[in-house]
Amino acid sequence: MPLIPQSMMKGIHFITLVAPIVSAIEVAIPLTAPMGAASLLGNLVSLSIEQDRWTDWAGTTEPNTFFNNVLDNFVQITNTSSFVRIGADSEDHTDFSYDVEYAEDIFPPSSTIKPYPEATNITVGQGYYNIISHLPNGTQVQWGVNFRENNFTAVYLETVALMNAFSSSAVVEKNITLKFIEVGNEADLYRNNKGRNNSWNVKEYVSEWEHFAHNVSATANLTKSSYTKLIGAAFAESSHNNLTGFSPQAIFNLGILESSAGQLIETISQHHYSGSFCTGGGAVLQDLMTKSYIRGNISMFVPDIEATLAKGLKYILGETNSMSCHGAPNVSNTAGAALWLLDYTLYATQVGISRLHFHEGIGYKYNLIQPVTLNYSILDGSPIAPLAPHVQPAYYAAIIAAEAIGASGTTQAAEISIDENNVSGYAFYEYGSLSKAVFINTVAYFSGAGVRNSTHIDFSFTGTGHAANMMSVKTLKIGYASDTANLTWGGQTYETSDGRVSGPLTVDVLPVSSGVDLQETEAILVTFL
Ligand SMILES: *[C@@H]1O[C@H](CO)[C@@H](O)[C@H](O)[C@H]1NC(C)=O
Ligand SMILES: *[C@@H]1O[C@H](CO)[C@@H](O)[C@H](O)[C@H]1NC(C)=O
Ligand SMILES: *[C@@H]1O[C@H](CO)[C@@H](O)[C@H](O)[C@H]1NC(C)=O
Ligand SMILES: *[C@@H]1O[C@H](CO)[C@@H](O)[C@H](O)[C@H]1NC(C)=O
Ligand SMILES: *[C@@H]1O[C@H](CO)[C@@H](O)[C@H](O)[C@H]1NC(C)=O
Ligand SMILES: *[C@@H]1O[C@H](CO)[C@@H](O)[C@H](O)[C@H]1NC(C)=O
Ligand SMILES: *[C@@H]1O[C@H](CO)[C@@H](O)[C@H](O)[C@H]1NC(C)=O
Ligand SMILES: *[C@@H]1O[C@H](CO)[C@@H](O)[C@H](O)[C@H]1NC(C)=O
Ligand SMILES: *[C@@H]1O[C@H](CO)[C@@H](O)[C@H](O)[C@H]1NC(C)=O
Ligand SMILES: *[C@@H]1O[C@H](CO)[C@@H](O)[C@H](O)[C@H]1NC(C)=O
Ligand SMILES: *[C@@H]1O[C@H](CO)[C@@H](O)[C@H](O)[C@H]1NC(C)=O
Ligand SMILES: *[C@@H]1O[C@H](CO)[C@@H](O)[C@H](O)[C@H]1NC(C)=O
Repeated sequence: MPLIPQSMMKGIHFITLVAPIVSAIEVAIPLTAPMGAASLLGNLVSLSIEQDRWTDWAGTTEPNTFFNNVLDNFVQITNTSSFVRIGADSEDHTDFSYDVEYAEDIFPPSSTIKPYPEATNITVGQGYYNIISHLPNGTQVQWGVNFRENNFTAVYLETVALMNAFSSSAVVEKNITLKFIEVGNEADLYRNNKGRNNSWNVKEYVSEWEHFAHNVSATANLTKSSYTKLIGAAFAESSHNNLTGFSPQAIFNLGILESSAGQLIETISQHHYSGSFCTGGGAVLQDLMTKSYIRGNISMFVPDIEATLAKGLKYILGETNSMSCHGAPNVSNTAGAALWLLDYTLYATQVGISRLHFHEGIGYKYNLIQPVTLNYSILDGSPIAPLAPHVQPAYYAAIIAAEAIGASGTTQAAEISIDENNVSGYAFYEYGSLSKAVFINTVAYFSGAGVRNSTHIDFSFTGTGHAANMMSVKTLKIGYASDTANLTWGGQTYETSDGRVSGPLTVDVLPVSSGVDLQETEAILVTFL
């Protein structure tokens, strides 16, 4: 093949360079936002942070610059502040002490399944909350307090410390705000994890939650007109999946929203993983990436979402990621998982989920971001040469979602109907008019699988509005679905020492009439010019 300078390749469509095209599809895209198209927040993809090692994310004596940079990348693209949830399982293992500066953790030993286990016992001091001031300006926060340990003193002291931190001048000047307090994590599991005895059920939950949340809201002086509100539910499972009787519908029926604390619930949160690695084994990357499974994992929440929206509340997945217990090796940490995250997130918008907080811990396999140096393998706990802070493949999916949403603050999305098992697509509208589209090929392409197939996509447009003649196509390039690094997005990398994007941007500018080719294990962002 002759060597052609990259600059000359721009805008030229080399049909000969792509693999055999085994399928061709034509997609019909409305030019104006269809009725009921979902409105997208700039921080649709947000983070949930396991709070035992919160000090590593925020930094104690100084901010963690790497973490701040990778958060700021999203702010630059979307003009929307980051929204960070801090808490999760360890929120329910946290005590407060005036004798502790930041945090003291007791960790169980590392194991092959959980190389970086959660602390069993966390004691925090005022400094632990104060370092929220290290995050980028404008960050919005959801923070959890301990309900599982049934200790009124702990939840009270944590609330006092939270309010002290968020009223400190360092935090107020940066407009870092406490949007939600979460009273307890996954209380539907308290009976199984011995947080409560065998009498624990949803009725008992509502009564005890009201009691604790009343103290939290009174301590924090929350009223219906306060900016800070409470999160509702934060359950581990959908009503479809659980046998415990915990669901948004059940707590509504028990009158939680009429209680003094319940009136402060503005958003219902539920948690979800597509599978589990708690006992090891079992996860298959192609399964995670499969279009019908992604839809199954999201649509199981539809009854819960409908019941929530009917009450005038918002609905989020406050903690989610691929496989529970920190992810499955060679699945959660791969490029294939990036395509999962993109399709999962965009599909979630179509059923009324307004934000997804992807769960992160230090050294977890499914992280988007590893914010500190790691000294042993996230896959099996074996010692490794120090691995500097870096982003993992899933981070690219969050960047793609951010770019698709953009900075207008008006973006809506509608799924494009595609009668293919392996290709998903979404159209994006700004000010009501078609601006972009994302297409994802979810066939997991592995080393040794032979020729890499492509799908050719042609466009037709429906309805009234301006149909573009030209488009730019930006590609997430992935070697194999199992790759754990070396992805590029528009030719650029985020795998840099400071977490900032690097390298020249390359996009293809093509006539819309030529359509595009989408390879197996690939995502593209089409911008209609
Ligand atoms: C959004 O853009 C406006 C105007 O440039 C700017 O003042 C504001 O700070 C931006 N907000 C964020 C969160 O970046
Ligand atoms: C209750 O919480 C307080 C403050 O976090 C702690 O000092 C105390 O030890 C806890 N009590 C029990 C029984 O765990
Ligand atoms: C947790 O740690 C604190 C402080 O180190 C200690 O007082 C407490 O007994 C511990 N609790 C458990 C359950 O280990
Ligand atoms: C962030 O807030 C600090 C403190 O108020 C201020 O000095 C700084 O200019 C702000 N930075 C940006 C980028 O807005
Ligand atoms: C402070 O943050 C809140 C919540 O994100 C936002 O609504 C408000 O506009 C921000 N205020 C300023 C001055 O940037
Ligand atoms: C179970 O715990 C509740 C408080 O959560 C208590 O009222 C009840 O007596 C306990 N039941 C048993 C059998 O210990
Ligand atoms: C909340 O609980 C703490 C600790 O038991 C108590 O001191 C405080 O008075 C309670 N506040 C309210 C408003 O109930
Ligand atoms: C709540 O209000 C009381 C009485 O006005 C005040 O003493 C206390 O500092 C307030 N607490 C917070 C967290 O604002
Ligand atoms: C959720 O996804 C997993 C693969 O990650 C799949 O095994 C499972 O069947 C899916 N669940 C549903 C309800 O589709
Ligand atoms: C994960 O992939 C690495 C590199 O290919 C391999 O050495 C390791 O055995 C795999 N681990 C599991 C649990 O499959
Ligand atoms: C490409 O498509 C052909 C025909 O459907 C199929 O036999 C082959 O397995 C595919 N290759 C890969 C790598 O998926
Ligand atoms: C990424 O690419 C570099 C340079 O080609 C190579 O040394 C490294 O092994 C690759 N890493 C992975 C995880 O594929």
